[in-house]
Amino acid sequence: MPKRFLVKSYGCQMNVYDSARMGDLLRSSGHIETEDPAEADIVILNTCHIRERATEKVFSELGRVRELKRARAAEGLGTQIVVAGCVAQAEGAEIAARQPAVDIVVGPQAYQRLPALLAQGRGAKAAIELDLAADDKFAELPLPARADVRRRGVSAFVTVQEGCDKFCAFCVVPYTRGAEVSRPVAHVIAEIENAAGSGVREITLIGQNVNAYHGEGPQGGSWSLGRLLALAARVPGVMRLRYTTSHPLDMDDELLEAHRDLPQLMPYLHLPAQSGSDRVLERMNRRHGRAAYLRVIDAARRARPDIALSSDFIVGFPGETRADFEATLDLVREVGFASSFSFKYSARPGTPAATSADQITEGVKAERLALLQALLEEQRQSFNRATVGRTLDVLFDKPGRHQGQLGGRSPYLQAVHVDCREAAIGEVRRVEIIAAGANSLAGRLLETEALAQA
Ligand code: 5AD
Ligand code: SF4
Repeated sequence: MPKRFLVKSYGCQMNVYDSARMGDLLRSSGHIETEDPAEADIVILNTCHIRERATEKVFSELGRVRELKRARAAEGLGTQIVVAGCVAQAEGAEIAARQPAVDIVVGPQAYQRLPALLAQGRGAKAAIELDLAADDKFAELPLPARADVRRRGVSAFVTVQEGCDKFCAFCVVPYTRGAEVSRPVAHVIAEIENAAGSGVREITLIGQNVNAYHGEGPQGGSWSLGRLLALAARVPGVMRLRYTTSHPLDMDDELLEAHRDLPQLMPYLHLPAQSGSDRVLERMNRRHGRAAYLRVIDAARRARPDIALSSDFIVGFPGETRADFEATLDLVREVGFASSFSFKYSARPGTPAATSADQITEGVKAERLALLQALLEEQRQSFNRATVGRTLDVLFDKPGRHQGQLGGRSPYLQAVHVDCREAAIGEVRRVEIIAAGANSLAGRLLETEALAQA
């Protein structure tokens, strides 16, 4: 009997990708996707554990899903509730203890077993599957059907690497996603070919520590991310390549050369700094100092002078003094970021920093975050204003907010909208930027044909 399923994704792009693959898997076993929770026979929450707020969101959503399950039961309908992702991995059976309506708890490395778990149903207790085995789970998953790939849009994620061996003192990833594993080059390229053949024009290679990629090459040996990007750029139809998220220590020469040599590789680098203070970086176990971060930024700018930079920052890490925080502001001023994410430190159970005695008060964290975010926002706006008057290549990926408008992205990942009545979605066009709004740029389509596909 086909069932209707709904997957709700929280957190990072890796989860967005995993949610899509869970969807592919369920469709290939005959189930049908729905967006209406009331008609879903299977509800999957693909969860995030990175900060406390993310985890709490999951439990409040589970409360709502339980009510739906009750309402459906009153009509004689069964509902299976699945908790997948990083909260599943971190909390395991605790989830079912806290929310007994949960039927299945499945970790991020075990979701290829989902069809079997669903078919088997639950006994007296929820089924728990948390294997973190280092085999390539993707090898067991079907390649997504082309129609499904295209339906998701002209830009797609492809996971190339999962897990992390860095063990930053604040981070749950090494515990929830396990050790670093890279997919073989041939598997990644097959997935990119499948996507490009379905009309996808932009591929973002994703991994928790994507530039630590070291997948098996077609003739054996280990390939770096730079080398993988060079091969991906040769796949017909691939017009744009991006990758995220990187660690400063893993920015090697091959990756910098890829930025210098590959026109398809977009001039954008998301390189989390986390802090600008050597003392805090040391306590975070980042394994690099402020000077090393700045050297990497310099090298990236030498390889690709117009590269746009982005970062993640944490304020209020245990023991962070006012002077440490000022050093972060100073680093931001020195680099100049096009866009960034910043967070208050959140103590995560099981991570070394969570038990530090010198936790920072909520008030101080909030004050520092506000100051940092004001500076980052100023930089974002000034980066956007600097593109006014320039002509940029824009990949159109969706209809605009108003009729007769199209929305797309600049090479620097800025949202751009233009008035255009043509069906140009999936095309890269030359656009003159005429204004910078709070969240997007306005542009004018130059009267040229779509740029040739690679
Ligand atoms: N508290 C706050 N922010 C965190 N991040 C990771 N762990 C924590 C934590 N415990 C942030 C880091 C990372 C981003 C994905 O989330 O900045 O780069
Ligand atoms: Fe977490 Fe650090 Fe690994 Fe990034 S590099 S996933 S912050 S442990």
